[in-house]
Amino acid sequence: MAPWILLMFRSLLILLATPSSFAKFPSRYFPSSIIHPETPSLSSNTNLLYKTRYFTQILDHFNYNPQSYQTFQQRYLINDTFWGGRKSKSPIFVYTGNEGNIEWFAQNTGFMYDIAPKFKALLIFLEHRYYGKSIPYGGNRKKAYKNSKNLGYLSSTQALADYATLILDLKNNLTTMDSPVIVFGGSYGGMLAAWFRLKYPHVAIGALASSAPILQFENITSQYSFNNIITQDFKSESENCYKVIKGSWKQIEDTATSKGGLELLRKSFHICKNYISGSYLEGWLSTAFVYGSMTDYPTPSNFLAPLPAYPIKQMCKAIDNPTFGNDTFKKLYHAVNIYYNYTGDVKCFDLNDDSDPHDLGGWQWQACTEMVMPTNGNNKESIFPISRESYTAHSQYCEESYKVTPRPTWITTEFGGHDIARVLKRFGSNIIFFNGLRDPWSGGGVLKNLSKSIIALVEKEGAHHVDLRFATNEDPKWLQDVRKREINIMKDWISEYHQNLADSDT
Ligand SMILES: *[C@@H]1O[C@H](CO)[C@@H](O)[C@H](O)[C@H]1NC(C)=O
Ligand SMILES: *[C@@H]1O[C@H](CO)[C@@H](O)[C@H](O)[C@H]1NC(C)=O
Ligand SMILES: *[C@@H]1O[C@H](CO)[C@@H](O)[C@H](O)[C@H]1NC(C)=O
Ligand SMILES: *[C@@H]1O[C@H](CO)[C@@H](O)[C@H](O)[C@H]1NC(C)=O
Ligand SMILES: *[C@@H]1O[C@H](CO)[C@@H](O)[C@H](O)[C@H]1NC(C)=O
Ligand SMILES: *[C@@H]1O[C@H](CO)[C@@H](O)[C@H](O)[C@H]1NC(C)=O
Repeated sequence: MAPWILLMFRSLLILLATPSSFAKFPSRYFPSSIIHPETPSLSSNTNLLYKTRYFTQILDHFNYNPQSYQTFQQRYLINDTFWGGRKSKSPIFVYTGNEGNIEWFAQNTGFMYDIAPKFKALLIFLEHRYYGKSIPYGGNRKKAYKNSKNLGYLSSTQALADYATLILDLKNNLTTMDSPVIVFGGSYGGMLAAWFRLKYPHVAIGALASSAPILQFENITSQYSFNNIITQDFKSESENCYKVIKGSWKQIEDTATSKGGLELLRKSFHICKNYISGSYLEGWLSTAFVYGSMTDYPTPSNFLAPLPAYPIKQMCKAIDNPTFGNDTFKKLYHAVNIYYNYTGDVKCFDLNDDSDPHDLGGWQWQACTEMVMPTNGNNKESIFPISRESYTAHSQYCEESYKVTPRPTWITTEFGGHDIARVLKRFGSNIIFFNGLRDPWSGGGVLKNLSKSIIALVEKEGAHHVDLRFATNEDPKWLQDVRKREINIMKDWISEYHQNLADSDT
């Protein structure tokens, strides 16, 4: 694969960047993100958190041609342990699933379990079509992903319609039509939650959209924003850390092209025998810095990889370690070892690309059609080498892979985004946008209050949807506070809803 192909598809979550799968996606400087929904290692006690159900979903909500009569099985997870029931019109909390296996999100959205008892809430987690086990064409992934004709039903608009359909059907089954619904989501799931509230106000009374980069589109957010935030994260630890990383790319390239250089690099970074090229190495290193920034959580975590608290601080500590002298490779090795080998059980790092370019996963399709989110620009200051996003290359890739031309203006046409403060000032309500400024995606987030009830909660120390994680005893005060604010806002939505319902009954 040409390097530029790989620059285009950074996923919102890059779900599967676990040591077992990162090796599939080398790139020149950045990870591509290829979703293999079955890959993530899920914790063994998952069946304690929810029950799994399937719902017969309509393939095409918007057309009445013969194809659209088709259905598929959509998976959803449910936890009714805390639900107060229909009599008390207790709320339903819905997670609007992202680009991946829904179990992954259900296990990383502890906030919903933590607050369910307080709200007596029913919890459901809805899987996004074409991901996990919610595969159209009889669950035949190969067929569903075969060509653009079959993939055409994979879109955010169809997914939102799935969610509305399922929620209303479930409420009907439970004869609890008056239970208020709040939608939750992180990252792309957060974008879906926010858009769901705007499109389906009769289905959801509010949305908690965490780290939802709904503004990460061309002519709204700069293509340099993403990497500038990563740069800032490293600079904030130490100027030296930033400089060492920034200076390392040229050193790697020079070494890679010198005699015996590849072998030196291979040894320096403990890479397995199948090591391929300098650019793979750069992509692999970058991945650790990008994902490390996204998951720079204040407590130990296991989201994209098992990590200590504040991984960026730990990486910079390794880089600033005086015992490594001026040995850049040694410093970098110890830094990325924190990301890729925190558990200490990786024998050697496998950078070999064995992925099948014709089975690129759903996010690639979405990026080739509607989710065109420029994040690959690097200016002079960037911790990565200078580069520009190339829409032409992206488009060319999409033509070659799927015979489609991306529609970069579609999302903002369908959901808005331009001049959002003015547009939403008198339209829409009850949305919380949480963003942590350590998170590179926060550059495309809503960082200002748009109205009295479209609220931005912004935390300087926060990372990618950190608020949605299970609470721990070690959580810093700002994190405890932000969750309290979210709870209070949602409480207000619900009591207002009940008040209005009571008023309309009399
Ligand atoms: C719901 O989640 C709680 C943990 O918060 C768990 O104890 C309970 O068993 C779960 N209920 C179901 C029905 O899975
Ligand atoms: C509602 O009940 C019908 C009939 O049992 C069932 O087929 C359907 O899947 C249920 N809906 C949901 C969302 O579970
Ligand atoms: C690193 O330090 C050693 C001595 O400590 C020196 O010989 C070598 O030239 C230095 N290398 C670089 C790249 O500065
Ligand atoms: C992973 O960590 C362990 C324990 O620190 C170490 O022995 C091993 O060499 C590391 N693996 C690699 C590939 O560096
Ligand atoms: C961005 O603005 C330029 C100039 O107005 C326009 O040609 C282009 O289509 C816009 N792109 C998007 C995605 O809106
Ligand atoms: C938005 O308003 C809320 C109070 O309603 C406040 O807590 C929050 O800090 C404000 N957000 C920003 C970004 O100013």
